[in-house]
Amino acid sequence: MGTTETGPPEKEFLRFTRLNRTLHIVLVVSFLSLALTGMTLKFAYTGWASTLSRLFGGFESAGHIHRMAAFAMITIFIVHLVDVWRLRKREYGSWFRMLKSPDTMIFNRKDLQDLTGNLKWFLGRGPRPQYGRWTYWEKFDYFAVFWGMAVIGSTGLMLWFPEFFTLLLPGWVINVATIIHSDEALLAAGFIFTVHFFNTHLRPEKFPMDIVVFSGRMPLEEFKRDKPLEYEELVRTGTLEKHLVESYPPVVIRAIRAFGWTALTIGLSVVVWIIYAMIFAYR
Ligand code: HEM
Repeated sequence: MGTTETGPPEKEFLRFTRLNRTLHIVLVVSFLSLALTGMTLKFAYTGWASTLSRLFGGFESAGHIHRMAAFAMITIFIVHLVDVWRLRKREYGSWFRMLKSPDTMIFNRKDLQDLTGNLKWFLGRGPRPQYGRWTYWEKFDYFAVFWGMAVIGSTGLMLWFPEFFTLLLPGWVINVATIIHSDEALLAAGFIFTVHFFNTHLRPEKFPMDIVVFSGRMPLEEFKRDKPLEYEELVRTGTLEKHLVESYPPVVIRAIRAFGWTALTIGLSVVVWIIYAMIFAYR
C-alpha cells in the first residue's frame, strides 16, 4: 500500500466501479479468445493457425471455444446495459438528464471543441483542452463495442444457429453473414489492437500502459491533470472525498500489469499475423 512520508496511506481517485472493472476484464479475455480462435479459422492455411489450433485442441474445438467466448461477451454486454439502466434510475431519474449531463457518453458540442482544440495543441497552437469525465476518443472507443456487437454479434449468431435464421431468411443470407462477420472481425481486431491500444496505453502520457480500467484507481495528481473539469466539479460540490480510496498493494498492481502485458502482447501479435496473412499468404 502506498504511504506518504507523514504517515497515512495514500488515497487515489476511484474512476471505475468493481462491476465496471470485472466487465472489462471479461471483455478483454473474451475478445482475445474470439480474435485468436476466429483468426485460426479464417487463416487456417497459415503456419500460425496450425500451431494455435493444436493449442486449442484442433480446429473444431477452436470453434467451440469461439462460441463459449461469444456467450461470455454477449452476457457482459447485457449486464452492462442493465447497469446503465440502473445508473439512470439511481443518479439521474430520466434518460434526458443522463444524456445531457456533463458526464454523458453521448457526443456533444464540447467533444467537437475538444477535438479541434486537441488538433491545435498537437501543432503547438493552443493549450491542451480541459477534459471532463470522458474524452471524445474514449466515447469513440466505447461506441465501437456497440457497433461491433450489432454487426459481429448478429452475424455471429446467424453462423451459430443457421437453421433457425433460415426459417425466417433466405439461405444466401448465411453466406453474406460469413463475409460480413469475417471482414468485421479484421476491422474490430485491427481497430482495438492499434487505435484503442494507442489511445489508451501507447500515447506519451500513458506509455507503456494505463491500468486504471483494471485497478479502478488513478493517482490524484494524474486525475487533476487528465480530467481537470471533472476534478473541479467534484471540488466545487465538495464530493471529491467520497471518491477517494486507498491504493492497492504492490502485489496486486504487479498481477494487473502481468495481465495487461499479456493482453497487449497477444493483441499486437494478432495484428502482425493479420498483416502477414493478408500480404503473403491470402487465399
Ligand atoms: C460476439 C459474438 C460472436 C459470435 C456469436 C460469433 C460466432 C461465430 C461462429 C459461430 C463462427 C463459425 C465458427 C466455426 O465455423 O466453427 C465464427 C467465425 C469467426 N469469427 Fe466469430 N463470433 C463472435 C464474435 C467474434 C469476434 C469479436 C471476432 C474477432 C475479433 C470473431 C472472428 C471470427 C472469425 C475471423 C471467424 C472465421 C470466419 C471465416 O471462416 O472466415 N468473431 N464466429
